[in-house]
Amino acid sequence: MNPACRYAGRMTHADVPRTTAARIAAFIERRRAAHLGSEKAVENQHRRGKQTARERIDELLDEGSFQEIDEFVRHHNTQFGMQANRPDGDGVVCGLGTIDGRTVAVFAHDFTVLGGSLAEANGRKIVKVQKLAYRLGCPIIGINDSGGARIQEGVGSIALFAEIFHWNVKSSGVIPQISLIMGPSAGGAVYSPALTDFTIMVDGTSHMYITGPDVIRTVTGEDVGHEELGGGRTHNSVSGNAHYLAEDEADALNYVRDLLSFLPQNNLDETPAVHAPADLAEAEADAALDTLMPDSPSTPYDIVDVIAAVLDGGEFLETSELFAPNIVTGFGRVEGASVGIIANQPMQMAGTLDIDASEKAARFVRFCDAFNLPILTFVDVPGFLPGTDQELGGIIRRGAKLIYAYGEATVPLITVITRKAYGGAYCVMGSKQLGADLNLAWPSAQIAVMGAQGAANIVYRRRLKAAADEGQDVEALRAQLVEEYEDALLNPYLAAEEGYIDAVIKPSETRERVVRGLRALRNKHVEAPTRKHGNIPL
Ligand code: HXC
Repeated sequence: MNPACRYAGRMTHADVPRTTAARIAAFIERRRAAHLGSEKAVENQHRRGKQTARERIDELLDEGSFQEIDEFVRHHNTQFGMQANRPDGDGVVCGLGTIDGRTVAVFAHDFTVLGGSLAEANGRKIVKVQKLAYRLGCPIIGINDSGGARIQEGVGSIALFAEIFHWNVKSSGVIPQISLIMGPSAGGAVYSPALTDFTIMVDGTSHMYITGPDVIRTVTGEDVGHEELGGGRTHNSVSGNAHYLAEDEADALNYVRDLLSFLPQNNLDETPAVHAPADLAEAEADAALDTLMPDSPSTPYDIVDVIAAVLDGGEFLETSELFAPNIVTGFGRVEGASVGIIANQPMQMAGTLDIDASEKAARFVRFCDAFNLPILTFVDVPGFLPGTDQELGGIIRRGAKLIYAYGEATVPLITVITRKAYGGAYCVMGSKQLGADLNLAWPSAQIAVMGAQGAANIVYRRRLKAAADEGQDVEALRAQLVEEYEDALLNPYLAAEEGYIDAVIKPSETRERVVRGLRALRNKHVEAPTRKHGNIPL
């Protein structure tokens, strides 16, 4: 060890001999101490399957690319004995680095220092890095592992929470914002993630709630565990607050790197693309689409097979996979350029649209639109989900979000109707009349107000009743009427005759048509009239 080091550590600057060598040595020692943290706290962190803030940042970023800022920031709180506990960095690590060579800003709460709690001092660090990301036009990634507002502080910590939220909102739609939850995220610590574009949680070790189990028990008497209340699985599958459930920290950090590879640096940046012209000759995967659709319209199939056949290398990065699985959202590439995908999933609830699916898809459409990612929509939807739960839960207001999102989108929109496109759900799912640019339908498409069973029961109600009164075979009559309705209306040709769709195509032609469509739409430009903002039904 350099002998000058003994002058560093907790010594003040005035204690260091006034030589350059001593000052450098003191600096090195102070930095080393700042990075080390408490051995016991780090051990605890590791024992729980969690890494430290710096370990996470190192794993997330390109090797050696991290440039830390504000590592010597300390709080000035003198209450509750805090003057004796003023660690360098104050429990948050901030800076810039690169992922696949592209600049990103990052901040990470360090749970080993004062529980990663948010204070005035480290809050200012976060706001500084948020402003930096905004100015540079680069994505920002927040790694959360925090007990929320620092309890020993007065207004400082909550004021800084509000300022962080303000910059989350200012940055929304300007730079991609991604949150990782890698431990507790309690109280105010949940709202910054909620304002960002994507939230990734780690199974078993991450929790998010506004009030934890203890407070709930005290206030309402309800007994609930951490995992059930705010675990990664809960937020991925029930509340929809999280968009990916990682099996461990490495998986979470990898997902972020993958996700960023599809996203532009900011809203004015080009969509990331590698030049990869498609071979438009029919491939095996294209041909397979001609036999994918079951003959019976009530037999499900996996829409992801269709998505994969259209995307480069069949590579599809799904988002919110566990939430509202009746609609599929995610990213892929066509000719090397990123696209967003939205598709009804016939394997789940027959692909019906419910509140959760509508909100999931609406948010995804708006993300793609904000960041100039073309949207491919695959439609196989029998309608909105009927039921009092849905009606009383606000399907009207909340389903309207998806109409609004598609209706305001100005990015290239290509829609492929593979099978059912009934009623309101036809309108919602990227219909031409809602503003889509290229609307294609397979020969198996059924574009109508509703399915044949429901239609026959309503249109022929009197005839069916009369048949029953006369003792005729009602079911045979119903089957005949259903068949008549199917023959008359359940096809793509009525829509094609009226120009409500642009073309009927063979399933095997889908990739070729999508590729050519996206080429043609590359320079799409829509001038929006001046307004402050629209009023999306929230
Ligand atoms: C100061 C905190 C802290 C906090 C944890 N610590 N949370 N210090 N302020 N908010 C400290 C602990 O005192 C402890 O210090 C160390 O961090 C580790 O915490 P443990 O409790 O030992 O860890 P664990 O058992 O894993 O429990 C983690 C936890 C729990 C579930 C997060 O610490 C907890 O419930 N903390 C309080 C959560 C909370 O109520 N936050 C305020 C929310 S109000 P030592 O020195 O013992 O190691 C809020 C309002 C903002 O955020 C509103 C803005 C909109």
